[in-house]
Amino acid sequence: MSRYWSDIVHRLVPYVPGEQPALAKPVKLNTNENPYPPSPRVLDAIRAELGEHAESLRRYPDPIAKRLRATVAAHHGLRADQVFVGNGSDEVLAHAFQALLKHDLPILFPDISYSFYPTYARLYDVQYRTVPLDAAFAIRIEDYAQPNGGVIFPNPNAPTGHALPLAQIEKLVAANANSVVIVDEAYVDFGAESAIALIDRYPNLLVVHTTSKSRSLAGMRVGFAFGHADLIDALNRVKDSFNSYPLDRLAQAAAVAAYEDVEWLRSTREHVMASRARLTASLAALGFEVVPSAANFVFARHPAHDAAAIGAKLREQEIFVRHFNAPRIDQHLRITIGTDDECDTLVAALKRIVK
Ligand SMILES: Cc1ncc(COP(=O)(O)O)c(C=O)c1O
Repeated sequence: MSRYWSDIVHRLVPYVPGEQPALAKPVKLNTNENPYPPSPRVLDAIRAELGEHAESLRRYPDPIAKRLRATVAAHHGLRADQVFVGNGSDEVLAHAFQALLKHDLPILFPDISYSFYPTYARLYDVQYRTVPLDAAFAIRIEDYAQPNGGVIFPNPNAPTGHALPLAQIEKLVAANANSVVIVDEAYVDFGAESAIALIDRYPNLLVVHTTSKSRSLAGMRVGFAFGHADLIDALNRVKDSFNSYPLDRLAQAAAVAAYEDVEWLRSTREHVMASRARLTASLAALGFEVVPSAANFVFARHPAHDAAAIGAKLREQEIFVRHFNAPRIDQHLRITIGTDDECDTLVAALKRIVK
């Protein structure tokens, strides 16, 4: 503990990102990246930015990412003033905590959820209360009928993969008209219903998306928030008090191309969903209990084997999965859906471990 640290730094509990192993060919199923590359059109757009438009790199990028926002707005049937862009959805979420969730009452989020939420709450001094998921890891919306300064949850939830139906989300948003409800849809393209359809009817709804998962652009750091123009305005006020140019030129060009290639999204996400069904069946055959998943990962436990021990044995074989040492889930492993070959390597290793 350094005497030069500010008070708040002493109190922070930073998020611990999944390991990025420096190995030639790890089977990397620990951070929910896409096993497939981005659309070839993304690579063309980046090359063009570095080739014919390279001269422009000496200039700052568009601070409001106008072309990208217009492209993504059109894709979702929204207006550009209903779209905010940030450096990965983590940055978008951080701004939302500061801009929209910091009030007198505590905010609510599930006890098992994205572990960045408590980190942001501490960073921005936002009071929070966690609400237990039910025994099947589902959100019970009636449990959120209590005074709050805001509500946030991922849908599908992370790390469980469980999806909440849109009708339930609408009830929750309608019942909380006095606070902002944030639906973090990082994994929505892998099988859940998006709440974007509700935006025009609910001025208190903010939906957060990312290009890191279904569009294979985790390395580019591009995330979005969609909502009423007043909510977007609040995010822009924070952004312009923090970093006016959160997205560089390459990221903006890449993300536009990723949204234009709808067919690439369709085919890669179908591959991932088919592999998810295959992996789920293989894990079940080995005796694992697998939470039904609408995301690009599965959450599984083996009744006879300790999850951390399984994770450690996999790691010795350069296979990486994610274990959370947290209440209720310390016997589970979160496993990203890889290619079928990667999933087969995992299953073969698990077979030796649980035999
Ligand atoms: C639920 C959830 N939200 C947001 C993110 C952040 O994604 P990114 O910052 O890459 O857009 C993640 C990443 O794993 C996530 O799991």
